[in-house]
Order: sequence, then structure tokens, then C-alpha cells
Amino acid sequence: MIAIGCDHGGFQLKQEIMQHLEARGERFYDFGTYTEESCDYPDYGKAVAHAVTSGEYDRGILICGTGIGISIAANKVQGIRAAVCGDCFSAEATRLHNDANILALGARVVGPGLALKIVDTFLDTPFSNDERHLRRIGKIES
Ligand code: RB5
Repeated sequence: MIAIGCDHGGFQLKQEIMQHLEARGERFYDFGTYTEESCDYPDYGKAVAHAVTSGEYDRGILICGTGIGISIAANKVQGIRAAVCGDCFSAEATRLHNDANILALGARVVGPGLALKIVDTFLDTPFSNDERHLRRIGKIES
């Protein structure tokens, strides 16, 4: 189950991503924002982050203008590893190495075509379970 959220800057791209998730047969819940009216990205970043750490959702996807503000907010929640990705290599690496549980995208940075490929890569790449990566992730939490 995927938790998805955005601010006004990410609203249009979130619509495209949700259509794509539907086409993939993914189950997801939209935590807002639900219009293009100006709003505050930390509200949505934290809502999705708490949804993921609750255990009810496996992964999160967050979108704002750059992906930066909303990922900074999400990363304040203990247990969240939100990664801003603007390319598929980073999306794959952050799953393999960091076991990132939230993907953050910048709607003003990546076009919708690339964003959907990044989403696919993020969702389809498992964590490596490698001992050295587990050790490093443990150090993030301590
Ligand atoms: C909103 O204008 C913009 O600041 C926000 O979407 C995001 O880019 C912040 O990091």
C-alpha cells in the first residue's frame, strides 16, 4: 500500500502518478493536497511520513516543486528515509543502498515521462539486504 501526497507545486504531477499507479494495479491513498491552491508542503510531507512509519503503508511518494522541502519535512519523522530523485540511477541506488521508504519528486525539475520511470524504478527495486548497508542504515537511526 502506497501513501502519496504533494503541495500545490506537485498537484498536477501527483494526478499523473496516481493514474500510473492505478494502471500498475497498485493500492494507494492520497493524503492531499487536493487542489492547486497554495499550501504548506510540511503538512503533507509529515502526513505521508507518519502513514509510512505507522506500518499501514509500505512506501510513500511525495511531490513538491523541487522535491526538497517536502523530503526535508518527511525526514524529520523517525524511521523515514526520504530520497529526492531526479533520475532512475538514484532511485535504484536509494532502494538498494538506503532502503528509502519515501520517494520525493520535484515537479518543476522532472517532466512527467521521467517521473513515472523513476516511480517504477523506486517501486520495483528491492533493498539489497546487504550487511554493510544494514549497518549504515542503523547508524542513521541511532
Ligand atoms: C512552493 O512554491 C515550493 O516552495 C515548494 O513546492 C517546494 O519546491 C519546496 O521545497
